[in-house]
Parts: sequence; C-alpha cells; structure tokens
Amino acid sequence: MFPVVITGPRLTLREFQADDLDPSMAVVGDPEVTRTLSFDARSRNDQAERLAQDITRAQAQPRPDYYLAITNSTDLLVGFIRIGLGRDNSGELGYAIRRADWGKGYATEAAALMLNFGFDTLHLHRIQAACGPDNHASQRLLARLAFTPEGRIRDHVFTNGGWRDSLLYSILDHEWRNQRTSVGEVQ
Ligand SMILES: CC(C)(COP(=O)(O)OP(=O)(O)OC[C@H]1O[C@@H](n2cnc3c(N)ncnc32)[C@H](O)[C@@H]1OP(=O)(O)O)[C@@H](O)C(=O)NCCC(=O)NCCS
Repeated sequence: MFPVVITGPRLTLREFQADDLDPSMAVVGDPEVTRTLSFDARSRNDQAERLAQDITRAQAQPRPDYYLAITNSTDLLVGFIRIGLGRDNSGELGYAIRRADWGKGYATEAAALMLNFGFDTLHLHRIQAACGPDNHASQRLLARLAFTPEGRIRDHVFTNGGWRDSLLYSILDHEWRNQRTSVGEVQ
C-alpha cells in the first residue's frame, strides 16, 4: 500500500519526502533522542543516505515495513513511527518524537493511529514493542495503550557503545478493539 496518509486530531502520519532531511535531524541527529533507540545519533550525510533508502523502500512490494513521518498541522516533521512486518500477521512498533515536542501527547496520538492502521487496515493479529528498562516515557505510553509486558530480553541491542536489555510488550487485535475508545480522541 503506497502512499499512506493517516490523519489524527493534531498529527498526520505520511510517507517521508526528500525535504524532510533537515527536520528529521532534530530526531535522528539528537543524541538525547537516540539514547533510548537502537541506533546512535546520525550525521546529516548518513541521514541523507538513509532517508533516500527509506523513500525507495516505501515503494517496495510487498512492503517490509511502514516507516512514516509524524507531522504537525504545518506539515513539519516532529517524529517518526514504524511498524515492521513479521511472520503470521505480526508487527513491531517503534517511534520517536523530537525533544522540543516531548510531553505533548504526540507519541500517544501517533501510536494510537498506527495501531488502528495495523489492526484495521493491515489486519495484523499481534503488535509488539521493545524498549530499554530505563525508558519510563515509553513504558508509560505502552501501558496507557494497554500493551501487556512479556518479559525482559537480555543484551537485545548494541547501542551507544554497549549492550542493552529490552522490555518486551505486545497487544493483540481484540485487546486493541476493547481499549481504543479509552485512549482519547483517536478511535
Ligand atoms: C518515548 C517518547 C516517544 C514519548 O513521546 P511523547 O510525545 O513525549 O509522549 P507522550 O507525551 O504521548 O506521553 C506518553 C507517556 O509518557 C509519559 N512521559 C513523557 N515524558 C516522560 C518522562 N520524561 N518520564 C516519564 N514519563 C514521561 C507521559 O506522561 C505519558 O504517560 P501518561 O499517559 O501516563 O501521562 C519520547 O520521549 C521520545 O522520542 N524518546 C526518545 C526515543 C524513544 O525512546 N523512543 C521509544 C523507543 S522504545
């Protein structure tokens, strides 16, 4: 499916475009943001290469993932969100918001939109997410969205110069259908 555009009350999820390079640096180029991600902060040159690959990959058939820009009401990129597709109708969720917009509920809105898309449009059965044990914002977000904790994976990612454990969470299609009305405006 291409192109994807998903609209919420404050945010839109859309495909990446070439002029996202500079705004995307406030996300993937900021070590405070990438500290809790599975990759290190990128240089502008590295990100230019990655962005070109992301734009090309979005048009692959079948798509390996839906990696989308999160944009505000002025179409400015404020973050990214991704569902990577796995076997047996499963998906893995990842997200980041630029530091200037933390704490505004943007990740909650974007994740709820992506869960609607994953379960209703892609007909996924299970969506999982993994986050660092000290990533309290992400853990609260997943709890709010009714993800169930499944345990701790040891040395799951090598990032920022060392191995990091991950806490694994998941939500199933019927659980999201029961939960989504209580998440807020995004239904
Ligand atoms: C995790 C992240 C995406 C949250 O984005 P956000 O837009 O600030 O999140 P929201 O405003 O929707 O808030 C989500 C929850 O986290 C809580 N939260 C936000 N910042 C927090 C912080 N610094 N410490 C503890 N909780 C925090 C909010 O209170 C909210 O919980 P609540 O619904 O129980 O009140 C953002 O901090 C980020 O981009 N971090 C770096 C990248 C990252 O860690 N991505 C996730 C990898 S698993």
